[in-house]
Amino acid sequence: MAKKIIIGNWKMNPVSSKDAEKLFISIVKFLNRKTRTEVVICPPFLYLENLKSSSRTKKISLGAQDAFWAEIGAFTGEVSPDMLYNFSARYVILGHSERRTLGETNETVNKKIKAALSAGLIPVLCVGESVRDESHDYFDLVKTQLGECLSGVKKTSVAKIIIAYEPVWAISSTINRKDATSADCLEMIIFIRKILSDKFGSESKKMRIIYGGSANEKDAEDFLRNGGVDGLLVGRASLDAKKFIEIVKICEALNK
Ligand code: 13P
Repeated sequence: MAKKIIIGNWKMNPVSSKDAEKLFISIVKFLNRKTRTEVVICPPFLYLENLKSSSRTKKISLGAQDAFWAEIGAFTGEVSPDMLYNFSARYVILGHSERRTLGETNETVNKKIKAALSAGLIPVLCVGESVRDESHDYFDLVKTQLGECLSGVKKTSVAKIIIAYEPVWAISSTINRKDATSADCLEMIIFIRKILSDKFGSESKKMRIIYGGSANEKDAEDFLRNGGVDGLLVGRASLDAKKFIEIVKICEALNK
């Protein structure tokens, strides 16, 4: 069975490199022993270099929150997957809903996934609906996201890809957000597994699917036990070392 994974997405936080290091070190301290859970922190690009030295324990990996699809060249403001790899990032979040609102499309996410894979990065592909409509169109939306984002990806590479199901309506920054339940999650995870299996056959069984959307130390156990997932993508709670560590501990306890 694939290792469970807890990924912290710091988004555009904290405001200084010093604060980033402080937060990172307080998480690493706890992890400075054998953990069966894979733990990843995705800070803003700028902090990767600094955090690299604090992550030498190898108990924690670094990831980025986006990457461009070209290796090098005239692309003002972009960061390439190879640059990230050279900066010690091993994971990259792609297609996050907050980037989709800024214009990211399934087509650009698709190019980014392929580029990330060729650079040796593990893509964490985010999919998820903005609303749960009564006619259940949200299933079609997630199906389209998966189909278009993973179009042309070789079967031999899919085991490396992590799918993050993030219902936008449950994310902490969404106005009038609602709590997703582990049952909401499980329903979609089963659907995603079926789509992946139709597309990639038995290789798809090696893909990890995780949940994100206000996951915290109070509901982590329920999602991990009953949501059908292999881990969590944690936003706000990953900015609080105690809460994040608690989530990792819960995952560890379930791994026993
Ligand atoms: P929150 O945990 O803050 O809802 O963020 C979820 C998320 O978007 C992680 O990528």
